[in-house]
Amino acid sequence: MAKGKVDALLGIVFGDEGKGKVVDVFTPKYDIVARFAGGPNAGHTIIFEGKKFVLRSIPSGIFDKDKVNIIGNGCVIAPDLFMAEAQELEAAGYNLRGRLHISKRAHLILPTHRVLDRAYEAAKGKNKVGTTGKGIGPTYSEKASRTGLRVGDILDNFQQKYETLKARHAQILRDLNYEYDISDEEKKWLEGVEYMRGFQLTDTEIEINKALAEGKNVLAEGAQGTMLDIDHGTYPFVSSSNTVSGGVCTGLGVGPNAIGEIFGIFKAYSTRVGSGPFPVELFDETGDKIREIGHEYGAVTGRNRRCGWVDLVALKYAIMINGVTQLIMMKSDVLDGFDTIKACVAYEKDGVVTADMPYDTEGWKAVYRELKGWKSDLTNLTSESQFPQAFRDYISFLEQEAGIPITIVSVGPDRAQTIVRG
Ligand code: GDP
Ligand code: IMO
Ligand code: MG
Repeated sequence: MAKGKVDALLGIVFGDEGKGKVVDVFTPKYDIVARFAGGPNAGHTIIFEGKKFVLRSIPSGIFDKDKVNIIGNGCVIAPDLFMAEAQELEAAGYNLRGRLHISKRAHLILPTHRVLDRAYEAAKGKNKVGTTGKGIGPTYSEKASRTGLRVGDILDNFQQKYETLKARHAQILRDLNYEYDISDEEKKWLEGVEYMRGFQLTDTEIEINKALAEGKNVLAEGAQGTMLDIDHGTYPFVSSSNTVSGGVCTGLGVGPNAIGEIFGIFKAYSTRVGSGPFPVELFDETGDKIREIGHEYGAVTGRNRRCGWVDLVALKYAIMINGVTQLIMMKSDVLDGFDTIKACVAYEKDGVVTADMPYDTEGWKAVYRELKGWKSDLTNLTSESQFPQAFRDYISFLEQEAGIPITIVSVGPDRAQTIVRG
């Protein structure tokens, strides 16, 4: 029986909740930080000492120089993007060698997977998912079809396996009449494959379980959010992996009894990037104001994020699906200037009102509860005792609805702007 625990930190809405920041803050308490799902579709921002980093594939525990970081078997990895990300960190003085381990079972995103991503999106026309274009869907499809290439393949007769898969993709793209040119991209990608050899490409599931047996603790860093989960999100407008707590077990190779705390992270309001239903979406000045104050533009694609008030239907559903034990509320400061703040407590369609997540969220309208805004600057606060009353009331209301506590509140992007509640 494992002596250590795996705590999970999961985005529980549509991603971009602020996972990177909180993983970075939490890292000193853990021995290992591990990503278990997704790939470079993620963009996790970390800001400290005035410097900003956006991590895509590398876990956000990397800034603590003593900690091991793992890219788990549930992830997909693009060697060229990985190389660019790692080199940026190395240039900034972070030595990754020896402490960034990559699962041999993680799947490789080929340049042609990215072309296929674009080709499939183009074929869908107005029904496109609005993917990040990083080849996520085609790579996970290939994994499920049992035809994919894994990181471990780099170590054995790689060129031939690569050429075979590339030729198969070329045939599909010919059938689709989709024109493309990957010559420059492919050069970088193959360079990235060589670069990856400089890292420990290992059986990370064994490493993690040995560490747990020794009493070490692991933080599993989620990517995306529950509403983008392939099973539980707003299908088909989702990503292609299990981003929920169940994905921690399959994506790292740990048993459910090794899981400890499940931190569910959300923003004091809602955002979504890409297509798909979003009942709380605001198309008015309020939505624009949230976007502007919250800098809600995609960290990966630069796209406008769609904005709205907090959605308790989605939050409660995610708490249930993940077994969330504690909530973390981010970007509270973005709502500092609003006279009133709304929270969606139910969805309504054709006279039917429900507080349970419907099978198809298309066409549902949000039913709101109105609360008073706090109209003061939260960004310099350092403890809960300084919270204005209206902000306390907002927190209490959300806690009551959610049925679990909000134990951490974030009031700005910096590491220091994180308040742990007593
Ligand atoms: P992730 O994908 O969940 O890691 O989140 P992103 O990095 O994509 O998006 C979160 C954005 O919010 C980043 O730009 C962060 O720097 C920023 N951020 C995080 N916490 C706070 C906060 O409490 N207040 C404000 N104003 N910004 C925050
Ligand atoms: P982090 O980890 C927000 C969205 C895309 C698109 C859908 C499918 O930074 O929170 P994909 O490229 O995965 O096939 O796109 O999922 N999406 C994200 N939205 N944050 C993310 O990651 C996302 N990763 C994917 O915009 O709607
Ligand atoms: Mg992000």
